[in-house]
Amino acid sequence: MPGAIYAEGLVKTFGDVRALDGVDLDVPEGTVLGLLGPNGAGKTTTVRCLTTLLRPDSGKAVVAGIDVLRHPNEVRRSIGLSGQFAAVDEYLTGRENLQMVGRLYQMRARAAKARAQELLEQFNLADAADRPAKTYSGGMRRRLDLAAALVVSPPVMFMDEPTTGLDPRNRQQLWEVIKQLVSGGTTLLLTTQYLEEADHLAHEIAVVDHGRVIARGTSDQLKARTGGERVEVVVHDREDIAAASEVLRGFGKGDTTVEQHTRRLTVPVTGGAKLLAEVIRELDGRGIEIDDIGLRRPTLDDVFLSLTGHVAEEKPEEAAK
Ligand SMILES: Nc1ncnc2c1ncn2[C@@H]1O[C@H](COP(=O)(O)OP(=O)(O)O)[C@@H](O)[C@H]1O
Ligand SMILES: [Mg+2]
Repeated sequence: MPGAIYAEGLVKTFGDVRALDGVDLDVPEGTVLGLLGPNGAGKTTTVRCLTTLLRPDSGKAVVAGIDVLRHPNEVRRSIGLSGQFAAVDEYLTGRENLQMVGRLYQMRARAAKARAQELLEQFNLADAADRPAKTYSGGMRRRLDLAAALVVSPPVMFMDEPTTGLDPRNRQQLWEVIKQLVSGGTTLLLTTQYLEEADHLAHEIAVVDHGRVIARGTSDQLKARTGGERVEVVVHDREDIAAASEVLRGFGKGDTTVEQHTRRLTVPVTGGAKLLAEVIRELDGRGIEIDDIGLRRPTLDDVFLSLTGHVAEEKPEEAAK
């Protein structure tokens, strides 16, 4: 059975630009999919197709059990969307904007008012609540935009680069809000250029580049594909390097590299922390004194680089396009 968000072979061209080149996605209910990719990868176009704002040239999309191409109006009623195009009215205050959204969703005036106040506090906008949105800074607008998407908690949410342009404190706060939302059962598709954000929030990550999903999996699975983990040992005495190297050879699944001047040995392994404990016991048993030992895992940066041949850019000003 397809998940709460399902896409198959989505293609979208703009003139001779093939923005989407056959995107496939499947997001199980109640989970977060992080759509990770550099500028121009096709993230926003994917979100716009799934949220009925853009009609794909071909492909299939089902959101909350509803066929997106056949029943766009029904889809719109079942989703929340925040991002680069949601409607914040410049001339209304932050509070009025949020209350208006509540009223659009048929909330009673009193409930809409209470919900607006709650969100204003949650997003650090209480002090600016009664100023027109046009006086807000970029970060404040982004927070208001997100708050507007959260007035009602829809079963399926889309967030297009929700924390781009936020300072670290506001980013952390937003992560908490997102976690709360998801613990309430919402399915979320989140696009991001921030590897750390995908790592932190997403159950599964789909890496997009040039309009295609080029890899998907949990953060750990993606990392394991990229060379995997390795054990690093720094021995105390240079004389022990050869003996330590022999120990590591017994545990490694590849060649041990040795840096003589730093007394550091590195070997690729599988088996994680359990194996690390065994290595320590073995070194200890042979009387080899160590200054440092650890299990090193590749970061998502390593993953991205090895998948795409380029590093993920983090240029908030361009992402806001
Ligand atoms: N309305 C449009 N008209 C022409 N080209 C577009 C339009 N929207 C997106 N594109 C192009 O499609 C590609 C994917 O863009 P987009 O989905 O915005 O990427 P991302 O959100 O990952 O940065 C880019 O090459 C972009 O320039
Ligand atoms: Mg975008």
